[in-house]
Amino acid sequence: MMNTILSTAILALWAATSTVTATPVKPAPTTSSSSGGAPTYTALTPPEIKALQQELLLAPSYKDKEQVLFPPGPQFGSANNVSFQFVNRPTGLPGQDGSVIVGSVDSIPGLIGTNVAAAIGFIGPCGLNVPHLHPRANEFLTVVQGTLIGAFVLEVDAQFTDNNGVLPQVAMTLTNYTGMLFPKGSTHWQFNPTCEEAIFSAAFDNSDEGRFQVAQTFFSSQPDEVLTASLGNPTFLGPKNIDKLRNTIPAAFVVQVESCAKTCGIKTK
Ligand SMILES: *[C@@H]1O[C@H](CO)[C@@H](O)[C@H](O)[C@H]1NC(C)=O
Ligand SMILES: *[C@@H]1O[C@H](CO)[C@@H](O)[C@H](O)[C@H]1NC(C)=O
Repeated sequence: MMNTILSTAILALWAATSTVTATPVKPAPTTSSSSGGAPTYTALTPPEIKALQQELLLAPSYKDKEQVLFPPGPQFGSANNVSFQFVNRPTGLPGQDGSVIVGSVDSIPGLIGTNVAAAIGFIGPCGLNVPHLHPRANEFLTVVQGTLIGAFVLEVDAQFTDNNGVLPQVAMTLTNYTGMLFPKGSTHWQFNPTCEEAIFSAAFDNSDEGRFQVAQTFFSSQPDEVLTASLGNPTFLGPKNIDKLRNTIPAAFVVQVESCAKTCGIKTK
């Protein structure tokens, strides 16, 4: 009832102003505004990111941080300093089969003082987000397109390991907006077992979640005897071969699994 009266009154007012005064409607600013007057995102430059990080670190309270993030001026009202666009930026690393774009304090200074980071991952057909861990954050990863198998290794007492001392792993097929927890510090991976691209969205409970690739990290330990000893001095893997192995470890986050690529008819290098 009240709504009807109100909308009738508004309509009448609108009709009156538009017909009687015929004031031309002010065109919306075209520079940074669209979709209802709110500005669209503009990426910060590396020097802008650095400057913002430093200013925010000198702002103790969130009120102080607001002064830095949303200062008075022509741009006031824009949430640009707390926004980020996750775009597919191929880094050109050899053997790369997808990319993970992380929004953390490095790319979104506005996250300083929060316990939040996020990522969007584009995993190509047969792509493997190689075993890695986040030293400072739990992760909850949700698949928004395609299918991924997610897995992590458990932290258990020795009696639960199998005969070879292998720690147990838990896994899940994730599809259709299904998500899974990857606990802080646990070694985990995601694999796209299909011939179609998969896309995930991930949330972290630390604004500086960090990432260690397990193979890269392990084989970065020096000298070689440290590695051969911790591998049980296998006869087939002496210091010479360790060095060879080191050179084959990919730096790329996402690599292709060859048996799957063969099934999908994808030519591997
Ligand atoms: C983002 O923060 C910087 C540093 O305070 C400021 O110069 C700039 O105007 C801010 N951007 C917006 C859209 O408020
Ligand atoms: C995704 O889940 C919804 C809700 O259970 C279901 O209706 C839909 O059919 C599912 N889609 C696929 C592709 O599995």
